[in-house]
Amino acid sequence: MSRLSIFPEGAKQTDSDAAVPLLVSDDPAVIQGELARRGIGFERWPATQRLADGADQSDILLAYQADVRRIQTEGGYATVDAIRMTPEHPDRASLRQTFLSEHTHAEDEVRFFVEGRGLFSLHIGDEVLVTLCEQGDLIRVPAGTRHWFDMGNSPAFCALRFFNNSEGWVAQFSGDPIAERFPTLQACSRAQCR
Ligand SMILES: [Fe+2]
Repeated sequence: MSRLSIFPEGAKQTDSDAAVPLLVSDDPAVIQGELARRGIGFERWPATQRLADGADQSDILLAYQADVRRIQTEGGYATVDAIRMTPEHPDRASLRQTFLSEHTHAEDEVRFFVEGRGLFSLHIGDEVLVTLCEQGDLIRVPAGTRHWFDMGNSPAFCALRFFNNSEGWVAQFSGDPIAERFPTLQACSRAQCR
């Protein structure tokens, strides 16, 4: 289930002591409202067709074509593709560490979770918004927003990615190790985000 946990930026988590969130919700309307107040887009899309396990990119785009076209038009995203991560991916550990470092992009980061789950943490002002995205969730992180992403030790997701440049994923890293103080995907699954 999708969940938003809002922490103060200075929250400190130790192995034995979880950071205490200011707000936790798994209500999609509350998640959408709290994120919208901070400029982050969040939607849940109903599947118009059932997708087979391991559906390919054309099946996925067909199933969600109306929503995909709307998002492309609204944001001027010329390109959309699908990325799938599996627990067997040979580069899973290094990719996980790259995405776990706080960074920004010069363009919006827009992801729709077709399958599986992932954890976006958004560092906005003096808050960190830890957002557990599940199948059916779209998140739009505006250009310049500090954030990191955890796909976990055993990644399992398929996501649509929307781009408005042709260079793909390009990040500017802040060098701040802030992600180490906040829950991982595994910790969120264990209830530290509640
Ligand atoms: Fe990113």
